[in-house]
Amino acid sequence: MKIGVPAETKPGETRVAATPETVKKLAGAHDVVVQSGAGLAASVTDDAYVAAGARIGSAAEALGAELVLKVRAPVAEELALMQPGAALVGMLDPFDAEGMGALARRGLSAFALEAAPRITRAQSMDVLSSQANIAGYKAVMMAANAYQRFMPMLMTAAGTVKAARVLVMGVGVAGLQAIATAKRLGAVIEASDVRPPVKEQVESLGAKFIDVPFLTDEEREIAQGTGGYARPMPADWMRRQAELVHERARLADIVVTTALIPGRKAPTLIGEETVRAMKPGSVIVDMAIAQGGNCPLTEYGKTVVRHGVTIIGEPNLAALVAADASALYARNVLDFLKLVIDKDGRLAIDREDEIVRAVLVAQGGDVLRAA
Ligand code: NAI
Repeated sequence: MKIGVPAETKPGETRVAATPETVKKLAGAHDVVVQSGAGLAASVTDDAYVAAGARIGSAAEALGAELVLKVRAPVAEELALMQPGAALVGMLDPFDAEGMGALARRGLSAFALEAAPRITRAQSMDVLSSQANIAGYKAVMMAANAYQRFMPMLMTAAGTVKAARVLVMGVGVAGLQAIATAKRLGAVIEASDVRPPVKEQVESLGAKFIDVPFLTDEEREIAQGTGGYARPMPADWMRRQAELVHERARLADIVVTTALIPGRKAPTLIGEETVRAMKPGSVIVDMAIAQGGNCPLTEYGKTVVRHGVTIIGEPNLAALVAADASALYARNVLDFLKLVIDKDGRLAIDREDEIVRAVLVAQGGDVLRAA
């Protein structure tokens, strides 16, 4: 089978869907065509792909393959180069109904890896986790860079420097990595989430959990989430959380917000009043900006200073760690391919398979997922 690896075209997208490591595993049985320069932004040269067994080709050749491996959903110009009936694997944004319609109209069998269920068998192909882990790390790196003080406590001849106080809002994969990274830098950390099991994870990383007690059975029930993901909390709980967060944010030097609810706008966790109350020189990294942000003052793709607080709204943090983000993503893709390529090297889409069924968003002209 001909497998294509095109260069990504979205602005700021530095990642690539296959690396020499994964190409090597595919090239024995398949004709792998990598678009010239596809890996450059992730520090992978054309020569490295050739050494792994790939051919170097044009965008038209890579996009015209029977199976196309991408990071992001193809834009209209890319779609026009794809063959009806071809298969596409990527982070295709399954909640984007218009985008899903475009893939279906092109007649593609499209697999949106973000939609994989959070079951043990799918862990090795969990792109949300592999990329969120990297983003959580980079968020703390960016915060440390923008922050004008030390992170660790230091005792020097010129006096003592206090450790930075870091507040992490939303402790999923990204939040846990943000805590771990800030901890390694010596910060003092507090964290908040709606889901009760998070408390133990936060404490095991040496951070303090900000408890917002549940007052009703409804609150307790909603906070359990569904399939590992959060659901929107009732307004009264959000108000009590905001009050507590307001107090903790005033004392914080760095706030990292990661709270997401799949398919919805991100919840507001740090309101303007809270930003106003924060210390001058403190830093917010709003990791939820791609879904509207956890702070209303965050600006998409920009770093702004509001009320003396630096607010970072970088929407694609994982792409700023392009080489490792690509390495992990490419392994996720390779693992997924094992589910849809049979022993004869042909595409075999088994809709009885729970993972395949969940990620198959378009086939035979139809959109298969209700956004
Ligand atoms: P996410 O990226 O969807 O959301 C980030 C965090 O924000 C979540 O922890 C969520 O509970 C929190 N959040 C949402 N609304 C909030 C609010 N109003 N206030 C405070 N926090 C709020 O979550 P992510 O990182 O995708 O992971 C969710 C869970 O799934 C994690 O516990 C993770 O460990 C688990 N997981 C399980 C896997 C498996 O079993 N195969 C694989 C990957 C993750």
